[in-house]
Amino acid sequence: MELHEHDIEQLEEVLEPVEDPDLLNTNLVSASSDTPPIMRPFVNSIFPVLLINKEFLILFANRACNNLFTGYFRLQNNLFFDVFGKSLGSEALKEIRQAVLFGNHGYSWKGSIKTKTREAGTLQTKVYLFPVIQANQAPDNFIVLFDDGTQENKKLLQSVFISLLEASKLKDNDTGKHIVRVNFYSERLARELYNRPGYEEVDRDFIEDIGFLASMHDVGKIGTPDDILNKEGPLSDWEWTIMKEHTKNGAFILSTYPNPMAREIALNHHERWDGTGYPFQLEGPMIPLSARIVTIADVYDALRMKRSYKEAYDHETSIEKMLAWKGKNFDPQLFDVFMTIQSDFEKIYADNADEEPN
Ligand SMILES: [Fe+2]
Ligand SMILES: [Fe+2]
Repeated sequence: MELHEHDIEQLEEVLEPVEDPDLLNTNLVSASSDTPPIMRPFVNSIFPVLLINKEFLILFANRACNNLFTGYFRLQNNLFFDVFGKSLGSEALKEIRQAVLFGNHGYSWKGSIKTKTREAGTLQTKVYLFPVIQANQAPDNFIVLFDDGTQENKKLLQSVFISLLEASKLKDNDTGKHIVRVNFYSERLARELYNRPGYEEVDRDFIEDIGFLASMHDVGKIGTPDDILNKEGPLSDWEWTIMKEHTKNGAFILSTYPNPMAREIALNHHERWDGTGYPFQLEGPMIPLSARIVTIADVYDALRMKRSYKEAYDHETSIEKMLAWKGKNFDPQLFDVFMTIQSDFEKIYADNADEEPN
């Protein structure tokens, strides 16, 4: 590999590696003899960077890159396509091959990869491939730079739906603390299901998602008339009919959320295991697991809170009442898991209590 000093300078300019002060003090990875010279400036960079050759062999991955892909891919001494092929898709693979072998787009390529594992969750990063330029000849080596946008994308997406949630809260009597607690309970219960037989769908993404999306269960109330929402005393039949629409309205509002769990929770959080719930009288496992979890969380919290039609119950009374609804309102198997962690629900309620009784 023939590399010139100016090549390194040029790359330094492009990437502007930033030294992380923490890294400077501890366990610096020093450039070893098998670090290609071109990669030396990036050994301790916070930017994840790979070096590949035109045969697509990964020659070197810096520490940031190894950290980024821990739990997803093994990098060094593997072929780039073997590692990233599935996540890139056939169109991207074709474009990369054309860039590297035939010099399309100045031997460079830009795109993104999305990958996921049960344990590590979803990873979404932008990818930039560009040549290590050598004078008067086609490049032998290429830098691949990754820009991890996983958290940023998630936050951006959530911010849109948080605005919706804020708008719906203006109308609903439930406190902001209620929806925060429902998130916490739901995430706690989901975490308890992780790695239990029969709950294969519960992976790291599921746990993280339900911990945000549970709060959206009543977002459809934004479309419920105020006089019905705020009515003291029992609702008439037709008022109930309108009230129940909040499930379908919520599903409609959340249908643009990329994860179907949002819609499932809004639509099904009033369905009951025995098929007597609404809006569609689904029964048993026809009700999505996410909604069955939120139902337990929502009912527990509703019992603990003082509402216009009921007093606040203590933890023991709430559990006693819920026990009577096992197999009726609640998935009995899921309820048994809930019973093993009920003290955590009590703690969540205590730690996130409403400032003043409402
Ligand atoms: Fe609801
Ligand atoms: Fe609720």
